Amino acid sequence: MPTTQNPASPVRDEKDRVLIFDTTLRDGEQSPGAAMTLEDKLKVAELLDEMGIDIIEAGFPISSNGDFEAVTEIAKVVKNSVVCGLARAGLKDIDRAGEAVRHAKRPRIHSFISTSPVHRKWKLQMDADQVIEAVAASVAQARKWVEDVEWSAEDATRTEIDVLRRCCEVAIKQGATTINIPDTVGYSVPEEYYELIKMLRETVPGGDKVVWSTHCHNDLGMAVANSLAGVRAGARQVECCINGLGERAGNAALEEIVMALNVRADVLPYWTGVDATKFTRASKLVSAVAAFPVQYNKAVVGRNAFAHESGIHQDGMLKNNQTYEIMTPESVGLSKSSLSMGKLSGRHAFREKLRELGYELGDNAFQDAFNRFKDLADKKKIVFDEDIEALVDQEVASQSDRIKVVGLTVIAGTGGPQKATITLDIDGVQHVREATGDGPVDAIFKAIKAIVPHEARLPLYQVMAVTEGTDAQAEVMVRLEENGRTVTGRGADTDTMVASARAYVSALNKLMLKRQRGPSAQAMVS
Ligand code: KIV
Ligand code: ZN
Repeated sequence: MPTTQNPASPVRDEKDRVLIFDTTLRDGEQSPGAAMTLEDKLKVAELLDEMGIDIIEAGFPISSNGDFEAVTEIAKVVKNSVVCGLARAGLKDIDRAGEAVRHAKRPRIHSFISTSPVHRKWKLQMDADQVIEAVAASVAQARKWVEDVEWSAEDATRTEIDVLRRCCEVAIKQGATTINIPDTVGYSVPEEYYELIKMLRETVPGGDKVVWSTHCHNDLGMAVANSLAGVRAGARQVECCINGLGERAGNAALEEIVMALNVRADVLPYWTGVDATKFTRASKLVSAVAAFPVQYNKAVVGRNAFAHESGIHQDGMLKNNQTYEIMTPESVGLSKSSLSMGKLSGRHAFREKLRELGYELGDNAFQDAFNRFKDLADKKKIVFDEDIEALVDQEVASQSDRIKVVGLTVIAGTGGPQKATITLDIDGVQHVREATGDGPVDAIFKAIKAIVPHEARLPLYQVMAVTEGTDAQAEVMVRLEENGRTVTGRGADTDTMVASARAYVSALNKLMLKRQRGPSAQAMVS
């Protein structure tokens, strides 16, 4: 039996290469609360490009001016990956996507329409023939802009085989070069998805001339298994997201797909051009900018993915790491902590630590992070890697924030009423308010709301400790919901109240961005 770390097969046949299509910035951003700013998206896109992702789906240009701008800017900076914009079947959608990707070295338009009976009836009010006509018109329009056109059958796995085949055939005839078969609602099981891809590849006229693609959602927890079944059936593009982000239960997790192919090359003899040693960094960056936590036991990138708790396991690991590890932490970019940090650590050691943790910061961001590290080291005896990650992630996520927490004083305790005085900097102008509340957090949030009035609901307020010990940093997550828009903010500090204020303000910054054409930040101030 093969043990571990199967080396990629020495002879890599092009026919076995699987293209990795990352849709973190489009489908991933559709996760409730996972909004990203333009700067965040550019950072993620640059990292995806660097790690060898074949296709980056940068957004849905017609959906908002913000998305249009993001796709345009990403198209300008990406060096190697194909940059793709999503479009519905309407001609305006296609043209908007065409305009956004036209700056890319390698542009792609991805057009889609629902094909299943339930979607045709309730969403589109179109019959199958009308859908097929729309497929033909949309692909033909996309081909006027670019040569690389992907077409997707939304809800393909619940579509009648005959209708699906006719749609695929028409799309290929009109010049689509990739045909994507989404399991939009995560309904399929691996055997069934395997048969579907195989049948389409083998029976749709022209099916041998295009790349077949998988796009599996995780509603029943089978997104990765279904995607890999699709690859075994001949699909050579997998659509997936970092950390398995995406609508509802998410998409297939990119890092799991690639590592399954790397580790189990004996039974899955396919390969990708992705540099897996960047996974830890990518996971953390996406989690930070989307303010979307990674579950502790998440495969490949979860905090516990390489942790060994029981004595028997630890004993085995000390003797030989192959006893309980099928891949090394280093193979996914997780380096064993070596340098312990404290208040005597200087700039050089801090820079080395950042490098070891996979962060590359510009001079200003480095200086800000270093100052915050020094403050933290004054409060905590030992600064753990997790502390530094929380601190830098917050720095990265808040770089473009217009509202910032400058000061906070809280009176709490049994006596009541609890009172908070907050100072916020909004576009360079300081505002101070005081409020009382039902507990200190309520008082803080009321004081912030007095400065930045809004009607958003607060469906989530969550506190976690970053490390062990009573001097641990608190990491707070705040979710706000306004008119169907959901945003999540994150804040970390050794003081739980300060972390709460930061998280709330971070969510407000995101909400302002989501309002897009809304007034300036100052105009929101009462
Ligand atoms: O899940 C889905 O069907 C999609 C399509 C737009 C590709 O995301
Ligand atoms: Zn999707």
